Amino acid sequence: MKYLSLLILMLLIILLPPAIYGQVKTLNIIYTGSMNGELEPCGCSPKTDFGGVARISGYLAGHNNNELSPCILIDAGNFTDKDTPQGRLKAEAMLKSFGIIKYDAVAFLKKEKGLPEDFFSPILKEYKIPVVSGMPPYEQSVSVNRDTFKINVSVDPENYREGRLNILLTDVSVRESGLIKGWDVIIVSSGEILDEPLKANETIIVTGYPKGKKLGILTLQIGRGGEIKNYEHRWQLLGSDIEEDTRVRDVLNDYDSKVAGLLTASENPPAGTSYLGAAKCAECHQLFEESWKKTRHAGAFSSLKQAGKSADPECVVCHTVGFGEEGGFRSIETTPELANVQCEECHGLDREHIDDFSRPMRPVTKAVCLKCHTQDNSPDFDYPVYLEKIKH
Ligand code: HEC
Ligand code: HEC
Ligand code: HEC
Ligand code: HEC
Repeated sequence: MKYLSLLILMLLIILLPPAIYGQVKTLNIIYTGSMNGELEPCGCSPKTDFGGVARISGYLAGHNNNELSPCILIDAGNFTDKDTPQGRLKAEAMLKSFGIIKYDAVAFLKKEKGLPEDFFSPILKEYKIPVVSGMPPYEQSVSVNRDTFKINVSVDPENYREGRLNILLTDVSVRESGLIKGWDVIIVSSGEILDEPLKANETIIVTGYPKGKKLGILTLQIGRGGEIKNYEHRWQLLGSDIEEDTRVRDVLNDYDSKVAGLLTASENPPAGTSYLGAAKCAECHQLFEESWKKTRHAGAFSSLKQAGKSADPECVVCHTVGFGEEGGFRSIETTPELANVQCEECHGLDREHIDDFSRPMRPVTKAVCLKCHTQDNSPDFDYPVYLEKIKH
């Protein structure tokens, strides 16, 4: 009997909700990393239609005041794409979006280091974005006070501070991160994916989801002495059901029109187009043209128009004929006859064919389709099934 009551007492002590001690508090770390310049998904397939900064912002606006508060919002770096004119426009739009969303810390790591400082400085000034970076003139760490928490966010493994919650942002591999000591949380933007957090020594390691398809939410239960008592992790999928933030959408629309400007600027006068276009083929293959017109290939350009992306080189490359090649599509103004996925994308370019019908055209194989029907853009692609739908 004595033992039983002792047992009950012990159980009570263990099981009493932490609230009674009044000492355990919750903090949400909401994070991205390794966004790679993906401002929004292309929308080629509902199966890959996830992510985008306008949705991140919309999601947070809808949840910030209740279930996510208090929270700290972090990007762990590598949010930019290549250093090309379009890549720079992406970096600019990405940073502006981070500014609107009010990120508490944004790391500049490998990819950002490829871009010059004077490119960033006007945007950083205007949007007041707290950058952490190993490259001057940026700070290596920022301090964030949220609720009663004092948080140190840094990119320097040596820079953890006693008496604070320490969060390290890095793009070394997950394996190497496991060797770094002294940090409470490490957010990795190496492009690797950990479905669940990894616990190494006393450190919780998570990874930013590549291209921002999902938002990471790490919930910490923190004791009075600052020790992490417990943690939970979940991925918030960013699908088309999430309402976009219109302020961020404005940034994306501005990006689209600047990208369209790039296309016009790079245009040479259309030198005698070497691709002929379907209308020419139809002079002799009318029935084939009619059957082609019934396929979605014939409407591929209007899909881009609807998405507001008909002048984005990264989209037209698969939605027109011969873009980027000599005599291929340049813009809808100069080469309207080469919009849409036409005959020559599959049958190849062969001008002589018109004079010499006996010349065999290149065989249409699965490899021809895979140029455009990639895993990301066409996850349902199945050659026999798709071939059946376009046969003519
Ligand atoms: C690598 C080639 C490729 C690129 C690049 C590409 N697309 Fe696509 N897109 C496709 C293919 C293939 C499909 C058809 C997918 C399917 O149904 O299996 C498609 C379909 C679409 C659709 C139709 C979706 C529907 O169900 O009605 C839209 C809209 C679209 N793409 C927009 C874009 C935009 C915007 C971009 C640029 C950001 C882009 N695409 C870039 C290959 C591409
Ligand atoms: C130049 C790029 C390109 C090539 C090459 C290409 N496609 Fe497509 N395909 C597209 C795009 C873009 C779409 C989406 C058009 C839209 O709806 O906007 C599409 C859509 C389709 C669809 C409609 C999907 C659906 O679910 O209804 C089928 C089927 C298809 N392609 C089959 C093929 C096959 C088979 C090949 C190879 C023989 C091929 N495609 C080659 C770009 C391409
Ligand atoms: C998405 C790829 C694709 C596009 C676009 C396409 N074709 Fe084809 N075409 C094929 C495939 C695959 C075959 C062979 C299979 C078949 O018999 O249907 C073929 C067959 C043909 C043939 C018959 C070849 C033979 O052996 O008799 C002709 C002619 C032809 N296409 C003309 C056209 C013309 C003209 C257009 C444009 C209006 C066009 N094709 C657009 C894929 C395509
Ligand atoms: C001046 C008429 C003419 C034009 C224009 C023309 N073709 Fe042909 N094409 C022919 C004839 C004739 C044949 C042979 C038909 C046969 O042997 O049954 C042929 C055969 C083909 C074949 C099947 C033969 C093979 O070797 O694969 C394909 C595919 C084809 N053409 C595609 C095209 C495409 C694509 C275009 C547009 C770029 C085009 N043709 C334009 C007349 C033409």
